[in-house]
Amino acid sequence: MSRPRVLSGIQPTADSFHLGNYLGALRQWVAMQDSHDAFYCVVDLHAITVPQDPALLRRRTRVAAAQLFGAGLDPDRCTVFVQSHVPEHAELAWVLSCQTGFGEASRMVQFKDKSAKSGADTASVGLFTYPILQAADILLYQTDEVPVGEDQRQHLELTRDLAQRFNHRYGRTFVIPRPYILADVAKIADLQDPEIKMSKSASSPQGIIDVLEDPASIRRKIGRAVTDADAEIRADEKTKPGVTNLLRIYSALTGESVAALEKRYSGAGYGTLKKDLAEVVVDAFAPIRERTEQMLADEAQLDQMLAHGAARARKVAGPTMAAVRDRIGFLSPA
Ligand code: TYM
Repeated sequence: MSRPRVLSGIQPTADSFHLGNYLGALRQWVAMQDSHDAFYCVVDLHAITVPQDPALLRRRTRVAAAQLFGAGLDPDRCTVFVQSHVPEHAELAWVLSCQTGFGEASRMVQFKDKSAKSGADTASVGLFTYPILQAADILLYQTDEVPVGEDQRQHLELTRDLAQRFNHRYGRTFVIPRPYILADVAKIADLQDPEIKMSKSASSPQGIIDVLEDPASIRRKIGRAVTDADAEIRADEKTKPGVTNLLRIYSALTGESVAALEKRYSGAGYGTLKKDLAEVVVDAFAPIRERTEQMLADEAQLDQMLAHGAARARKVAGPTMAAVRDRIGFLSPA
C-alpha cells in the first residue's frame, strides 16, 4: 500500500528559522518522512512577494535548505527541493488564480496583516495572490496532509476550496488536502509579547529564538522572557500566556507533559524554570546548528542534493500539470 503524501513549504526570508517554525512545522516534517511520502520545499517564489536582495535571497535559500537537512530531513527518505526549480508551481498558480474570485482572495487575513504595514496600494500583486501559489504547491503533489502552524489554516481552506472547484468544473484532478496542525505547538508565542505569535516579521529580536542562534544569546532571551507577577508555574492560556508558552516549548522539546512539568516545578519560581528550559533549547538546537554549518561548508554538494530533489519533485508535478493543461483545454504542442 502506498503511503499518504505530505507536502509543506518554508520561506527563505531570514538568516535562520526560529523556534516557532521548528516546533510548529519542521519537527513534524522530520517525523513524517517515515510514515509518509514526503515533499518539502524552500519557497523562494513566495519570498519575492516582498522585496529581496538577490545575493541575500540566494544565500538564505541555501541556509534554509541546509537547516532542513540539519534538522534531520534525509534525502534518501524524503524529497527536499527549491520551489523555483520546479516551474510547474508558477504555471499552476496562474491557472488557479483564474479560478479564484477577487473577493475570495481579498478575505485572506495574512495579506491584510502584511499589506497593512506598507499600505495596500504599495503591496505587490504577488503578495495578494500568495495563497494561490501556496495552493499550487500543495495541489501539484496530490497531497493528503500539510503540516503547518495555525497561521496557515486559512490558506489551506482556500486550497481545499480551489481543489474542489477545479475538480467540479473540469473532472477529478486533485486530491483534497487536509491541514495537519498540532494544537500544542501550532502557535508558539513571542517571548516578549506572549499575546502574539513568534514571527520573523513582527517579533522584536528579544522575542524570537533562532535555530542557529548562539547558546549565550538563547539563555539570555529565555531568562528575560515575559511572564507575570504571581510567580506560579501553571499553564493558563488566558491569564498566564507567557508561562504557558514556556511550558509548552519545554514539553514539546522533552516529551514531558505540561501537567508533569507543573507538578515538578511547583513552588520552584520562574528563574529555575527558565534556566532549565534554556538548557533544553540549547541542547535541541546545538546538533542542528552543527550539521547546518557542515552542509553549508560544501555548497556544491548541497546544490547537488537540491538538484536531485527537484528532479524527483518534477516527476510528480509534471504529470499533474499535464493533466491540468489537458482539462483546461490547452492544445498540446505538436
Ligand atoms: P513560513 O515560512 O512563514 O513558516 C514556516 C512554517 O512555520 C510555521 N510557523 C509557526 N508555527 C508555530 N508557531 C509560530 N510562531 C510559527 N511561525 C511560523 C508556519 O505555520 C509554517 O508552517 N505560507 C507558508 C509557506 C508555504 C507553504 C506552502 C506551507 C508556501 N507554500 C505549501 C505549506 C504548504 C509560510 O509563509 O510559512
